[in-house]
Amino acid sequence: MSVEKKLFGMMPTCENVYIYTLKNSNGMEVEISTYGAAVVSALVPDKTGEFQDVILGYDDLEGYLKGDKYFGAIIGRFANRIQYGKFTLNGVEYNLAQNNGQNHLHGGIKGFDKAVWDSKIRKDIDNSVELCYFSPDGEEGYPGNLYVKVTYVLTEDNALEIHYKANTDKDTIINLTNHAYFNLSGHSSGDILKQKLMINADKFTVNDKNSIPTGEIREVEGTPMDFRTLTPIGQNINSDYEQIVFGNGYDHNWVLNTNNSAQLKAAQAVDENTGIVMDVYTTTPGIQFYSANFLAGSDIGKNNTVYNSRDAFCLETQYFPNSINCSKFESPILRAGEEYNHKTIYKFSTIV
Ligand code: GLA
Repeated sequence: MSVEKKLFGMMPTCENVYIYTLKNSNGMEVEISTYGAAVVSALVPDKTGEFQDVILGYDDLEGYLKGDKYFGAIIGRFANRIQYGKFTLNGVEYNLAQNNGQNHLHGGIKGFDKAVWDSKIRKDIDNSVELCYFSPDGEEGYPGNLYVKVTYVLTEDNALEIHYKANTDKDTIINLTNHAYFNLSGHSSGDILKQKLMINADKFTVNDKNSIPTGEIREVEGTPMDFRTLTPIGQNINSDYEQIVFGNGYDHNWVLNTNNSAQLKAAQAVDENTGIVMDVYTTTPGIQFYSANFLAGSDIGKNNTVYNSRDAFCLETQYFPNSINCSKFESPILRAGEEYNHKTIYKFSTIV
């Protein structure tokens, strides 16, 4: 087990960006950058004992500074969309950037993915790194000073745990996630259409054509959204089901059956090629399954790999998109003095 810290690069402001390498005794390794608190790589053993890097990303900081796909980053203050960038809290209307058509996406123009986070190695948790970010009152239009702490832990059973904590001095909204793009055959192996996915959800939130939930919660049964058992991602990805057409593929929020408990499996992805299995556990009520529909060949990643549409999948654990404007959805409000406390685990193993 070890944690190493190295310089990753320098911001245009001359601020240093560091990269931490967490390594466990099985040889699994995860790299975390202080720019965006992003997961840069995860070397995971496959069924033959070789290591595969299952995370899409860039070789250097410059790549991350130029990139606009949120590779591996922590998303905040609010993951996914807020309709028209507007919400009302305690009788006050707040206006956020409309950076996705008329809507607000992933925290705005300069979300947490574009911040340099403070970092330290935690002595009390083996193989961990803690990243902190202070988001001042009014940043990107959100109310309240917000203190955010994200801790990544690489465990001895090949799980990457992400602990999210935050508090505020004024009521605000918050929805933190990680936007890792996974490819269980390795980041440079091409599309993920044959990789299989299970999402432990009987229902999903229906979107309008701008990917804003309409408020309808629909049963997955009988639709291409049914991932209750392991299903190849590509099986229905080109279906003419309206939700798939709206999303250009999968880009939706599933209503987890897990009751906000990280004891129950929220999702599982399996790649028969490498035999790598990834199980997801979370305390959040929803998960965004995004089939990387907007990767466009213009995204050049590690080792000059060209990333095309559907070369990865994201499983972003979250409160439901636009939940602040939909009273039927679990509220993403964080009250002054309360603690935001969530956990997501990506656990790797191989097919037996
Ligand atoms: C999320 C969104 C997508 C897209 C990606 C990033 O998953 O739902 O629409 O914005 O992030 O490109």
